[in-house]
Amino acid sequence: MKKYIVIFCSLFSTMGYAQTDHIEKAKALASRMTLEEKVNLVRGQGFKMPGQQSAGANIGVTKDKVPGAAGITYAIPRLGIPTLVLADGPAGVRIDPVRNGDASKTYYATAFPIGSLLASTWDTELIEKLGAAFGSEARDYGIDILLAPAMNLQRNPLGGRNFEYYSEDPLVSGRIAAAMVNGIQSRGVGTSIKHFAANNQEFNRMTVNEHISERALRELYLKGFEIAVKTARPWTVMSSYNKINGTYASESYDLLTTVLRKEWGFEGLVMTDWFGGQDAAAQMKAGNDLLMPGTPDQTQALLAAVKNGSLPMKVLDENVVRILQVLLQAPSFKKLPYSDAPDLKAHAAISRAAAADGMVLLKNEQAALPLTSGNTVALFGNAAYSLIAGGTGSGDVNKAYTVSLHEGLQRARYKTDQALQDLYSAYIKTESAKRPKKSFIEEFINPTPPIPEPEMDAALIAAKAATCDIAVLTIGRQAGENNDRHIEGDFDLSPGERLLLKNIAAAFHARNKKVVVVLNTGGVMETASWSADADALLLAWQPGQEGGNAIADILSGAVNPSGKLAVSFPVRYADVPGANGFPGRAFPEQSRTGLFGMKLIPAEADYEEDIYVGYRYYQTFGIKPAYAFGFGLSYTSFSFTRLELSSETFDKEITVSVTVTNTGKAAGREVVQLYLAAPAGGMNKPRSELKAFAKTRLLQPGETQILQLVLDAGSLASFDEKRSAWVAAAGTYEVKLGNASDAATLSRQFRLPAALVAAQCTPVLTPSKPLNLLKPANNR
Ligand code: BGC
Repeated sequence: MKKYIVIFCSLFSTMGYAQTDHIEKAKALASRMTLEEKVNLVRGQGFKMPGQQSAGANIGVTKDKVPGAAGITYAIPRLGIPTLVLADGPAGVRIDPVRNGDASKTYYATAFPIGSLLASTWDTELIEKLGAAFGSEARDYGIDILLAPAMNLQRNPLGGRNFEYYSEDPLVSGRIAAAMVNGIQSRGVGTSIKHFAANNQEFNRMTVNEHISERALRELYLKGFEIAVKTARPWTVMSSYNKINGTYASESYDLLTTVLRKEWGFEGLVMTDWFGGQDAAAQMKAGNDLLMPGTPDQTQALLAAVKNGSLPMKVLDENVVRILQVLLQAPSFKKLPYSDAPDLKAHAAISRAAAADGMVLLKNEQAALPLTSGNTVALFGNAAYSLIAGGTGSGDVNKAYTVSLHEGLQRARYKTDQALQDLYSAYIKTESAKRPKKSFIEEFINPTPPIPEPEMDAALIAAKAATCDIAVLTIGRQAGENNDRHIEGDFDLSPGERLLLKNIAAAFHARNKKVVVVLNTGGVMETASWSADADALLLAWQPGQEGGNAIADILSGAVNPSGKLAVSFPVRYADVPGANGFPGRAFPEQSRTGLFGMKLIPAEADYEEDIYVGYRYYQTFGIKPAYAFGFGLSYTSFSFTRLELSSETFDKEITVSVTVTNTGKAAGREVVQLYLAAPAGGMNKPRSELKAFAKTRLLQPGETQILQLVLDAGSLASFDEKRSAWVAAAGTYEVKLGNASDAATLSRQFRLPAALVAAQCTPVLTPSKPLNLLKPANNR
């Protein structure tokens, strides 16, 4: 008989923040509450549309503690239970910047860089520091729980909220999210990791039924959350809008109780996404403790369910106790004073440093960058003058300012062409004035497309090539909640942008002058068809309010780029795994009208690419991306040497060490990425998978750092649905190390003598219909 080492999923249970005295206190408090009080506590106290000053007609808001916050909970003064304040969102505290009857003060918050950029830092230390600043800001504004970080997998480049999310890889997502949670919670405020789970599209997000194999769920869509829950213990989790295999996430006992609580040991509370799910009693029974933002109808439904016995009192009591446990440690309960005066200056500096750390240099032919000091720059592109700091919807931040690239370059003492500045400023002003005035909800449902690039005469561009030293063209993209992106003019360049770049490249190259393209986007774009026109290509993402300064830091060389892609850039959209199946099918004939007059259309999405998402697909199916996962250039070079394993036979864990040396002329930082290839045979597997990573400190030329990375049993295992277990096959494993998924060239092998079960789980979340899952031809 084969010997297995078995560790049960539930044995991973975290040491709870839910200390025993909190549990006892929570239970004691709950025992003094009436049924009505309990039912009111488990549903939030309403919602205001952004900018709305009076309470929503059918929803009702008790009282404004922090105007613009996304939601509040029910207060029971007789028991000393205060209102908890919950505010978005992933890129900074989202509250109203000005308040009625309070002209003396503003309440701006720091716009940090978006999630896609933060993940591209691969720098967990920095993210924790940024999280601490974010958490202090929340504390200073009287907020108890931040509705952040957002950490769904970037399954498809058209996902409208990808900008809020981290990566196509669950290890990067999970570790970056954990660092963010640790940072925020170190300031005594809670987090809500969201949206649990598989909220990977905006198309009919409140109705879509996603058919996903249990393996893909476990290995990809749940994995990042598992890492964050086990290593950072978020106070709360937000369930997602969508259905998974036929059940709303917020009504899924499998997801919220079996997996999240019993297997992973989560001890906090689960709240719904805003107006998510349908059946309040089913949500309570599934383990979704708090219904946000809460409606009076839910109170009635819960009272009725308790009275007719369909919602056992015991279940409601558990929901209440979990809310109280979190509440007991919240600033509002502790009556902590708050200043309404966060240190915005210090936080702006952190935002700038993080932005520069996460920008990815994709191309730099003949050292086009850094710019030569004193150069005059011909600055093209609307976004250079009106930088896009972040995405729209709940991930937006009401910031005091955004530094444009134009301002950033000027502050870095570059000359920019005045006539171009005048032209763009006048154009943007005129076009902005023409844009339709829409309410928040109108814009949310039907966003106004961005202002197109102005048509620019080839002769004008040629004149600039004569007088300026270099051209920098910034291409901007905007996306956000409720809408997915388009291919034409969004993922792809628009015809106008192509022509502009062509003309700039022709004019500047004719004079032997360089062309730099800066991508100011929240998500992946097509670059292969036009990147030959650019000498350098910088992916600046949407870099937050200090963006222009941070881009200038990279362009000037003040900061050496060290960001790496946490998402692949495919050659064309058609190369994306499951491209045709995204975002699924809708059934408009069955639609009904939801809140705010929004249409709720049933929809279905089949995740047939299964576990082959992002680089797992490109590598395994031999499709070359334009820029591979993990890729990013530097102004210096590094060597990786002395790859050593602590043992050539796996027993519990293996430590991998490598020496990184800066072999170039500039100080810089490098990311070491460890990919693991499993033995062939048995379950089909991606060619290799990221299993560990680490970033060096700033290394001076010639300087060396030894980094150590650890592989444990879980790192070797894949989820075997038949056995409902994480299983690693016996055989030879290959450790591949490098600074990109397609450049992991250092390699060593180790053996696993006997198959191993890393964790035994409960079979859950089974698809409700057969799926035609993608498999590699050689079953590898
Ligand atoms: C979003 C959440 C957000 C909530 C509150 C929802 O529409 O999906 O991410 O936290 O609104 O604003």
